Amino acid sequence: MVVIDISVHEGELPGSGTIIVTAGTDGTLGDAARALDTSLGGLVARMVELGGELTNGKVLDALAPSGSGHDRILVLCLANKEPKPLTDIEEAGGSLARKLEELGVADACVTTSDGLARTGERLDVAAAIAMGAMLRSYRFDRYRNDKDKDRPKLRSLSFAGLGDGGNSVLAAVRSQAEAVALARDLVSEPANMLYPETFAGRCRDLEKFGVEVEILGPEKLAELKMGAILAVGQGSARPPHVAIMRWNGGRDGDAPLALVGKGVCFDTGGISLKPAGGMEDMKWDMGGAAAVVGAMQAIAARKAKANVVGVIGLAENMPSGTAQRPGDVITAMSGTTIEVINTDAEGRLVLADMLWYTKERFKPVAMLDFATLTGAIIVALGHEHAGLFTPDDDLATAVTGAGAAVGDTVWRMPLGDAYDKHIKSDIAEIKNVGRAREAGATAGAVFLQRFVGDVPWAHLDIAAMAWTSRDKGIIPKGGTGYGVRLVDRLVAERYEGAS
Ligand code: BES
Ligand code: MN
Ligand code: ZN
Repeated sequence: MVVIDISVHEGELPGSGTIIVTAGTDGTLGDAARALDTSLGGLVARMVELGGELTNGKVLDALAPSGSGHDRILVLCLANKEPKPLTDIEEAGGSLARKLEELGVADACVTTSDGLARTGERLDVAAAIAMGAMLRSYRFDRYRNDKDKDRPKLRSLSFAGLGDGGNSVLAAVRSQAEAVALARDLVSEPANMLYPETFAGRCRDLEKFGVEVEILGPEKLAELKMGAILAVGQGSARPPHVAIMRWNGGRDGDAPLALVGKGVCFDTGGISLKPAGGMEDMKWDMGGAAAVVGAMQAIAARKAKANVVGVIGLAENMPSGTAQRPGDVITAMSGTTIEVINTDAEGRLVLADMLWYTKERFKPVAMLDFATLTGAIIVALGHEHAGLFTPDDDLATAVTGAGAAVGDTVWRMPLGDAYDKHIKSDIAEIKNVGRAREAGATAGAVFLQRFVGDVPWAHLDIAAMAWTSRDKGIIPKGGTGYGVRLVDRLVAERYEGAS
């Protein structure tokens, strides 16, 4: 959950408490920092002078002189770049939150009316600092009975000098941060708590944002002949479910953008069992579905003028007497026959039915799927980018740009007929794995491509990005919420306001 509150401070800078001003990494102070400097007898200028090398996100701190009324004065350094990348300022906002936590400060006031080379960016800078602080201070501690012991005191940040528009900008920041936090929460939930049925139930919470939610249970999936997702879930006592979330903020009848998510609530590998070491990480195998749910909330919360549908396939991949076997041939909803060589390549089976169903039912303008699909993408790209697979150059540019702008980075990977040969089966139309140790992530992608027809489509393999095992700036250890902001940005840039 998001633990700090952000708000607008109306009027003059408060005369007490902790104050934060900003400075450029070249040492320049803006008007508000200079005013504070004057009223404090040159303290701010001395902090910057004695602060050593000023780097983006560095926080200088000093006790306020007695008699000033204040407790502490902090200077937050922002890179002197024009224009300033949002992600730099968000990182700085994150390091500010961390510093305040270390200092044991509960409430503080930031003024950003300075340290900026361009006027009119003040709101953007404040918003980015607020976003960074909120995302950095997120924690998942609902199962920690001792949480009050070590939960940092930091409660609130207020922003002074924003003028008109401050409230609405901060409200937008808050709702996007909450959507990211929702995705993080879902990813971090253990699989005994979050399984297909309960995950689908959590989607219902989006109804309060005006999202229409529909849940398909196992009988309905059978009626729809979704043989692939059902095969994945058949070894589990917890049957598969599908959740469909619709936000109709665009024009009536306009085809929606579709978001499709892999929601494997736990991936043991099935009969092709994974090794024990690290298997606990596979509660995170629903990170694609979490990204879709978070994105739907973000879009609905700001009442985006677009039609967007989210479809997530929820299943648990377990070994048991009823589980599918390596060598089984199954029939997907599309009628495609699939030889299941490895039951651990289950995500593509789930998505096969989700993509086909989404295409058939919603005739979307484009489909974007998010999936923790392959270990191979981690080998290829490390934890720095998600793999992007699409035959559509235009969509590739848009997705890459939207991702870079918000820090959900992607790198394009190949598709093509040559790879399609890798999934030919001797006894069925296709098999669910490619060639050993060859282009594993692309083998997954060309498999998915079989189920998208002519719809413009992009697949994001987020196996390396859905969670992190170390703190990464504004992304604490655990579920990352990767994809939520990318989609929100992409919708704003490409699927809204064209009318
Ligand atoms: N959920 C895994 C992919 C994964 C692995 C995500 C590690 C995050 C970390 C997926 O279902 C899987 O097991 N893929 C197999 C495919 C293989 C059997 C073709 C893999 O990547 O090993
Ligand atoms: Mn697997
Ligand atoms: Zn998986």
